[in-house]
Amino acid sequence: MDVLRIRGGKRLQGEVTVSGAKNAALPIFAATLLTEEPCIIRNVPDLSDIRFMAEILDKLGATVEREDSRSWRIEAKKIASRAPYELVRKMRASVCLMGPLLGRVRASSVSLPGGCVIGPRPIDIHLKGFAKLGCSIEIAKGYVEIDGRNMRGADVFLGGRHGSTVLGTANILMAAVLTPGRTRIESAACEPEVVDLCHMLQAMGAKIEGVGSHALVVEGVERLHGCDYPVIPDRIEAGTLILAAAITEGDVTVKDMRPDHLPALLDKLEESGLPLTLTDESVRVRSNGQLKPVDVITHPHPGFPTDLQAQMSALMSVTPGLSIITEKIYPSRFMHVPELQRMGADISIEGSNAIVKGGGRLSGAPVMASDLRASAALVLAGLAANSDTWIQRVYHLDRGYEKIEDKLVALGADIERVSDRDIPNDLIDP
Ligand code: EPZ
Repeated sequence: MDVLRIRGGKRLQGEVTVSGAKNAALPIFAATLLTEEPCIIRNVPDLSDIRFMAEILDKLGATVEREDSRSWRIEAKKIASRAPYELVRKMRASVCLMGPLLGRVRASSVSLPGGCVIGPRPIDIHLKGFAKLGCSIEIAKGYVEIDGRNMRGADVFLGGRHGSTVLGTANILMAAVLTPGRTRIESAACEPEVVDLCHMLQAMGAKIEGVGSHALVVEGVERLHGCDYPVIPDRIEAGTLILAAAITEGDVTVKDMRPDHLPALLDKLEESGLPLTLTDESVRVRSNGQLKPVDVITHPHPGFPTDLQAQMSALMSVTPGLSIITEKIYPSRFMHVPELQRMGADISIEGSNAIVKGGGRLSGAPVMASDLRASAALVLAGLAANSDTWIQRVYHLDRGYEKIEDKLVALGADIERVSDRDIPNDLIDP
C-alpha cells in the first residue's frame, strides 16, 4: 500500500494553484440528473470521490464522459431511480442523489450510507424535508425508498442540533426546482458549495431566490435544460495550503482561490499574527515565525469550517502557548489527535474541546490517516517535524486533495510516495 514519506523541516516557498472544489462538484454532478440535456462541468478536480460519483451516474443510466483532465460531459437522457449499496457505501456524499432523483423521476431508492469515522452522520433532516414536500418514505433492507408522486412546494425548516445541513440543503433544493409550487427553505446552509449549486441550477433554468442566505425560495419549473458550468475553487484545499505555508514558516502565494470563502480562517490567522496579503483571487503568506496561539470554534459558514479544524490543530501544536479548539459540528472529530500525539504534540481532549499546549518541535513517526482532513493534518505535522514521517492509509488523502504531494514538492517540500514496505523496521517494531 502507498505511504507518504515526508522529510520535515523545509521552508515552503513559491506559488501554488488551487483545484476545483470536491464538495461543490459532487452535488453539481448529481444535479445533472435533473435534465435530459447534456451538461458540461468544468474545473473538476481529479479525485477518487469524483470518479465514484461518475460511476454511480453511469450505473443510473447517464452517459458520463471526460472531455479533458478537468471537464466532464454528463447526459442523463433516461435514468433509473436506484443507487445500489456497493457504490453508495464507498462515498457518503451519494445521499445527495435523492433530491435530483425525486425531482426528475419522482422516486428514489438510495442505499443508506452507513457509519462514518468522523462521528454520527444521520440524514433525518433530509428525510424530514422530503416528507414536507409530500414524499412518503420507508426504510427497507438498508435502502431509503422514497415515493415522490405527490410532491408539491412547501415550507421546509432544515435546522438541526449542529446548525444547518449542507447536503440536506442541496437535496431539498434539487428536489424543489422541479416540484410544482413554491418551496421556502428556512435555516438553509449558506456554504459556498451550496451557493455554487444554486448558481449551477440557475444556469439550468431553475428559479431560486435568496442565494447565499439562510432562506431560499424556489419556484418549481416544469423542466430544466443543460448547462456549461465551472466549479468554484476548493476553499478547504486553499486553507490547507495556507496552513502548510504557516507551519513551515514559509513564503507562499496560494492562487486561483476565493479568499472571501475563508473569512474565519483568515481572521484567525491574522489574530495569531501571520502576515497575509490578499487579492480577490490569492492569499500570500509571508511568515515571520512569530505566531501567537488562538482559540478556534467550528461553526457552519461563515464560521470556522470543521474541515479545517484538524489542520489548524496541527499548526497550534507548534505555536508556543495554549489554544483551545472546539468542534461544534462533529463533536468527536478528533481522530488526528492520537496520531499528532505520537509525533510529540501536547494535546488533550475534553469533550468536544482539544486543549493544545503548543511550542515543542514535532518529531516524525509512522502515523495512520483515518479520514481526509485528519490525513491533511498529519501532512502538515510531517512538514514541520524534525525527522521522517510515514503517513499510512494515504488513500484518504487521495479522496480530496488533487496531486497534493506534487503541489507541496513544487514549493520545496521533501515528500515521496513510497510503499509501506519501505518503512524502516525499527520504527514499526523497535
Ligand atoms: C458536508 O457534509 C461536507 N461533505 C463535509 O465534508 C463537511 O464536513 C460538512 O458538510 C460540514 O461542513 C460534502 O459536502 C460532500 P452536514 P454533510 O449535513 O452535508 C448533522 C470533508 O472532509 N446532521 O452539513 O453531510 C450532522 O451530523 C467532509 O470533505 C443531522 O443531525 O454535513 C453534523 O453534525 C466530511 N441530521 C451537522 O448536522 C441530518 O439529517 C452538519 O452536517 C444531517 C446532518
